[in-house]
Amino acid sequence: MGKLLLAPMEGLVDDILRDVLTRVGAYDLAVSEFIRVSGSLLPARAFHRVCPELTRGSRTRAGTPVAVQLLGSDPGCLAENAAQLASLSPAGIDLNFGCPAPTVNRHGGGAMLLADPEQLFRIASAVRRVVPAEIPFTAKMRLGMRDTSRTLDCARALAAGGVVSLVVHARTRAEGYRPPAHWEWVARIDEVVQFPVTANGEVWTTDDHVRCCSLSGCPDVMIGRGAVADPFLARRIRALAAGEELASDRSSDWRRLQPLLASFWLQVCAKVSPRHAPGRLKLWLGALRRTFVEADVLFLAVRELRGADDVTRMLDRHGVLRLPAPA
Ligand SMILES: Cc1cc2nc3c(=O)[nH]c(=O)nc-3n(C[C@H](O)[C@H](O)[C@H](O)COP(=O)(O)O)c2cc1C
Repeated sequence: MGKLLLAPMEGLVDDILRDVLTRVGAYDLAVSEFIRVSGSLLPARAFHRVCPELTRGSRTRAGTPVAVQLLGSDPGCLAENAAQLASLSPAGIDLNFGCPAPTVNRHGGGAMLLADPEQLFRIASAVRRVVPAEIPFTAKMRLGMRDTSRTLDCARALAAGGVVSLVVHARTRAEGYRPPAHWEWVARIDEVVQFPVTANGEVWTTDDHVRCCSLSGCPDVMIGRGAVADPFLARRIRALAAGEELASDRSSDWRRLQPLLASFWLQVCAKVSPRHAPGRLKLWLGALRRTFVEADVLFLAVRELRGADDVTRMLDRHGVLRLPAPA
């Protein structure tokens, strides 16, 4: 089967969730959330903050390589920062041409650039010049701003600019995150470029994965929200492709997830202030509710809690943590 990539998700998947999800899911590659580049050369610590994996050979604890994503609109500034990033030996350098956020788009970054294939070319070729051949230089794009009239021009511009592969989130900016994703458009892009194209968008189940590969004609798939909602999805996709019958049901998966939920929470408490830690757990539990009824119960139990200690006690009460009994 093809590759499975864990999608970048700013504000949702950071190094902690990458750690947990790649321990369960056996992804071939993860991409960091975007690092915004505008006007100045970022210090090394700015790259390390978003991708602490850089200090471990740019891999998660499970060994999954992590590429680092940059977002910006100025070719010179992006190139300067890409050179700085390259000196930290990331597993890849990826450029974001899909972010729909108004604050990012107002500065001409993310999906806005899809209206201007010539600028895409200028950016990609400027960055290409500074990224050594041994570091994969890639891009991630949506189909366009409002429509698909320039989709193929954008893909060709990135190819001419020297990227070695492309992830296509198969929706326009205007379509936001609403289904469907137009996987057949990934096939059209694949026809006009010479390198591997990865399909992305709306893969939540093993069936979605099969249909996505078939309609896009691409074996490689990047999974975003589906990976967060169902940490076992990648494993199930692989088992199905290998012809194995995966002897698991939702409630045994939930039990298997408990040590990882505990690990997630402990890592969050070590990294984030006690005031902000509960929000991080609620965000993941909110996504897990889509897959597990038990996550719904836990989500409702912690929803109103504000302090990290209260959340820890609640997780213990639900059997997620094994706290030492009080003396
Ligand atoms: C909360 C959130 C944050 C995201 N952040 C990024 C990002 O930093 N860089 C990026 O290229 N895409 C980002 N995306 C888009 C995802 O990588 C992916 O393309 C999109 O969610 C579609 O895939 P899915 O349907 O499997 O979720 C984000 C998506 C979400 C929902």
